[in-house]
Amino acid sequence: MIDQATIARIRDAIDIVQVIGDFVPLKRQGSDYVACCPFHQEKTPSFHVSPSRQYFNCFGCHEKGNAIGFLMKHEQMSYVEAIKWLGNKYGIEVNDVQESYEDIQKKNHREALLIINEYAGNAFTRQLLETEEGKAVGLSYFRERGFTDQTISEFRLGYSSRERDSFVKAAVAAGYKKEMLVELGLAVQKQDGPYAGELTDKFHERVMFPIRNLNGKIVAFGGRILSSEKSPVKYMNSPESEIYQKKKVLYGLFEARNAISQSKNCYLVEGYTDVISMHQAGVENVVASCGTALTEEQVLLLKRFTQKITIIYDGDKAGINAALKGINMFLQKGMNVKVVLIPDGDDPDSYARKHSKAEIEDFLESAEEDFILYQWRTLSANLNGDPYEEGKMINEIATSVSMIDDAGIRSAYINRASELLGISREDFSEKVNSLRSERMNNQASQYRSGQRSYVGAREPSAYRREENRPKKTKAEEELKRSEEDLIYLLIKFGRNTLHNLKNAVFGGEKVYEPSVAEYIRESLRVDGLEMSDPVLKRIYDIYFEKVGQADDTPEVERMFAGSLDQEVSTEAIDILSSSYRFRSMKIESSVADIAKSLSSVLPRTVYVYKSKVINSRLETLRSQLLSLPQEEEEKIKKLTQQIQQLSIVKSRLLREAKFAK
Ligand code: CTP
Ligand code: MN
Repeated sequence: MIDQATIARIRDAIDIVQVIGDFVPLKRQGSDYVACCPFHQEKTPSFHVSPSRQYFNCFGCHEKGNAIGFLMKHEQMSYVEAIKWLGNKYGIEVNDVQESYEDIQKKNHREALLIINEYAGNAFTRQLLETEEGKAVGLSYFRERGFTDQTISEFRLGYSSRERDSFVKAAVAAGYKKEMLVELGLAVQKQDGPYAGELTDKFHERVMFPIRNLNGKIVAFGGRILSSEKSPVKYMNSPESEIYQKKKVLYGLFEARNAISQSKNCYLVEGYTDVISMHQAGVENVVASCGTALTEEQVLLLKRFTQKITIIYDGDKAGINAALKGINMFLQKGMNVKVVLIPDGDDPDSYARKHSKAEIEDFLESAEEDFILYQWRTLSANLNGDPYEEGKMINEIATSVSMIDDAGIRSAYINRASELLGISREDFSEKVNSLRSERMNNQASQYRSGQRSYVGAREPSAYRREENRPKKTKAEEELKRSEEDLIYLLIKFGRNTLHNLKNAVFGGEKVYEPSVAEYIRESLRVDGLEMSDPVLKRIYDIYFEKVGQADDTPEVERMFAGSLDQEVSTEAIDILSSSYRFRSMKIESSVADIAKSLSSVLPRTVYVYKSKVINSRLETLRSQLLSLPQEEEEKIKKLTQQIQQLSIVKSRLLREAKFAK
């Protein structure tokens, strides 16, 4: 979608330290930069950023990648978004070459809708602050609720008059299209009644809460009725539109985002007024899900800013259920979840109005409960000694614990929960594990059958593409490992010259001094082999196509680790990271050991590789043979012959390997 030349310019401009430094405070340590890992909770820094290799690597949670991978993972950007972000950062213009006429139309349409909402927001504010009705009805209502002028202006609160069509009239007179006003739900076309065929305002005599997106643009409105006699509907909300998808928006996030990043925590409440009152009281890291059940999209949105979330709910039944639902969603995304229950019939709004900032913060801190404790307390409250209910409770808590991906944290919770529930650790752990594997199997089959897509296309799919491929057999896995070993030698030592090598593999006896890269290429070529793993094959091909351009080995490493092909970069980083285990030598060996004995390590690696190729082919042939019915004599004979031939090749290989030693 973006042209290659632009991508190349961006690649050359990227400095991973600058990029990550925009999100994480990095400290220099030797040749690396370090920080506390933004992908897991920790107290001592194990997150390393390498300027020379242009990648990051966490020794704690093993998250790693290049600058683009970081943006995709940390900021939940898509690949294209990450490229555009980098383009913007480094002043390189990025155009989607394939932006179609429809795309542009759509964009313009969206822009127009946002402009109209902006106009509407201002109109509602003027109604509130500058008209007699607005001041008497709307403003006095806000005053009663204790909202200050500053709060009113910060949240851009407004008022819609009781007149039938004053807003629509003004908007049309100002040149805005009727269809768009309808599309945004600001105007309604009456079908019948006294005003049939006329365009009227949707919001009447309501105080208005604009709902903004992450950029602060108004995407929708919530209008609250002032007295319940006038209408049974307390809040009237804009319908979904091209600019407003309920499930992707959190009320207050625009106002809260900085506070969330700074405090590394976010309070989740239920309503508009809860957000506003807490914000006014000085607790600014608050958002609301706006009365709907929390969605996966909203969780991912929050996760861009914080790893920790504290759900605040009031004690009613609906509130408790909503909190319980939210917990699993956050756990599943690897977040740290706490729960606070507001006491004595208060909600966050009323509580915030009665207390000072310090009191609120003290309370939230001391009342914050771990999700396990919270679940146990709320669920065990209505057990009444019923074993069936107790079983349900154990299941529910085990389900939550099973959502935690981090094995260490999960195990700690297994301890804690089994203690709390008074059952043995083994039993509970077994329950959790079986729930986990059940869910993973389900997910895997859903992904394979395409029923489930990675959320919102924002999930960094490049990391996961692997899962969509058919599962490798054991022989194929082993083959891939030795292919990785070859690629490891290729990238790390490709330019080294091999001394004292007998040209045995290629049939001669003369002394032969190829480079490691030449040796590998020739070894594969003589047997017509290529990497079976698609990503490793790409690395292999790129190496021989491009490596001439690289000056030295660090440059080669950088080329792969920093590759804009996310799969290539992820794989390369795996291979190049210091924790990579080279498997083609019997004893564990350091890079220096390998470097010293390349003349024997390399032929051995090639030998291991080739024997794995043969094993994997043999496995395929054997399984074909097994699945053939007895009467297919011809085919059986042919397969048997192939198997024999391969076995001969295998013993030839073994001879050569001994010779090469
Ligand atoms: N809500 C809604 N439509 C309703 C009721 C509620 O959209 N008919 C949403 C609103 O986003 C509201 C949230 O659910 O903010 C929580 O509802 P509630 O607690 O009833 O409203 P509050 O925000 O607390 O409003 P108030 O304090 O003014 O009653
Ligand atoms: Mn309320």
